[in-house]
Amino acid sequence: MKDRTEHHRERLDAHVFVCANERESEHAACGGAGADETVAAVKDWLRERDAFWTAVSVSTTSCLGLCSENGTALSIQPHDAWYSDVTPGDVPELLASAFGPNANRVDDE
Ligand code: FES
Repeated sequence: MKDRTEHHRERLDAHVFVCANERESEHAACGGAGADETVAAVKDWLRERDAFWTAVSVSTTSCLGLCSENGTALSIQPHDAWYSDVTPGDVPELLASAFGPNANRVDDE
C-alpha cells in the first residue's frame, strides 16, 4: 500500500463525482437520466478553463443515494457539496458557483 494523500493534496483542488449508476428496476437511476451527457458537460466546462485534471478531477461513480429520474447526482469534494437532478444545462452555473466563472477559485479552495 502507498499513501498518496500528500500527492493528491498538492495536485488537486477538488474532485467532482458524477453518478452514472445503471439500474434495471422501476426505481430511478442516474444512468438513465442523462449521466453520460452531464459527465461530458462537466469535463468540457473544466477543459475550456484549463482546469480539467490539473486542478479538478472528474470521476463517475455508482449510486450516491440521491437518485432521480430527472437528472444526475453530483458531488464536489472536499467542498461537501451534493446535488441531484443535475442536467447538462445546469453544469455551467453549478461549476461557476463552485469554482468561479473561469475556474479561477480552484486554487483558493
Ligand atoms: S443512481 Fe445516482 S444517486 Fe442513486
